[in-house]
Amino acid sequence: MIHNPLSVNLCNIELKNPVITASGTFACGFEYGKLYDISKLGAISVKGITREKREGNPSPRIAETYGGILNSVGLQNPGVEIFAKNLLPYLETQKIPVIANIAGDTEQDYCYLAERLSNTSVAMIELNISCPNVKEGGMAFGVKPDSVYKITKAVRKYCKKPLMVKLSPNVADIAENAIAAEKGGANAISLINTIKGMAVNAETRRPILKNITGGLSGPAIKPIALRMVWEASRAVKIPIVGMGGIMTATDAVEFMLCGATAVQVGTANLTNPLNASMIIDELRRYVDKNKLKSISDIRGQLITE
Ligand SMILES: Cc1cc2nc3c(=O)[nH]c(=O)nc-3n(C[C@H](O)[C@H](O)[C@H](O)COP(=O)(O)O)c2cc1C
Repeated sequence: MIHNPLSVNLCNIELKNPVITASGTFACGFEYGKLYDISKLGAISVKGITREKREGNPSPRIAETYGGILNSVGLQNPGVEIFAKNLLPYLETQKIPVIANIAGDTEQDYCYLAERLSNTSVAMIELNISCPNVKEGGMAFGVKPDSVYKITKAVRKYCKKPLMVKLSPNVADIAENAIAAEKGGANAISLINTIKGMAVNAETRRPILKNITGGLSGPAIKPIALRMVWEASRAVKIPIVGMGGIMTATDAVEFMLCGATAVQVGTANLTNPLNASMIIDELRRYVDKNKLKSISDIRGQLITE
């Protein structure tokens, strides 16, 4: 077998490379699949799945900011049954690990979704307890360590696949939340979700987003994301998937140096749909240039003295 220096092992799932497309920025990959061979990706984290179909928040729900975007999409998706019957089969043909990102209004919703999706071909479940754009649930479960622990422990019982908990950056201490997820039985942690923010139109004196507030993503949040990945990686033993403003392979390497096993690319898919593909190509050049046997050799290798 030919040695692949870009491959990484995430919770016993072999990824071709550490690049995963982030939930909500790649749908289920179909549109991107028309532009490039998406089977080259490490994995795909699909748009947040809820029990029932959701229309999302009213428009406008995207606002551009310096170095990023604010979104208040609000978990628009067709519901778990349509996902399993109509969307997942396409991803199965691509032979790529699928990470099912799930969200709910109640603990029971999360447990139900984890059990339902455990009976499908998805490789992993990502628990989104960090969405700032829905009133009922999402971030409400993800801000206090106690509730992170409680929901992770509850879902763990129903989840037959590796469970990754996606943490919110809208917290006082990210390390405490990472520890809570690990204690609750998470197999991995992903971070960060978007940072709650808002945009205002000075002429109309109105908020730009109909929802008033939204989640900030893109390069503007990268320093915060790096700091949080660094702090979380020192607090837990389980693998960390880092994200927040990754636009280039250099950004991805920085996250791995801070302790990430793999990375997710989000907003970059919206600025250029080929970005995730280009980051993989660039990473290959980085590995060659630095004569690395494995990209994993750089994990946690940040020099701080
Ligand atoms: C338009 C949009 C929709 C998103 N939808 C979801 C979602 O459904 N579930 C989720 O966990 N994160 C969602 N996110 C957050 C991203 O997955 C990611 O955590 C965040 O954008 C930070 O990464 P980035 O700066 O590379 O975009 C969304 C982000 C954007 C921009």
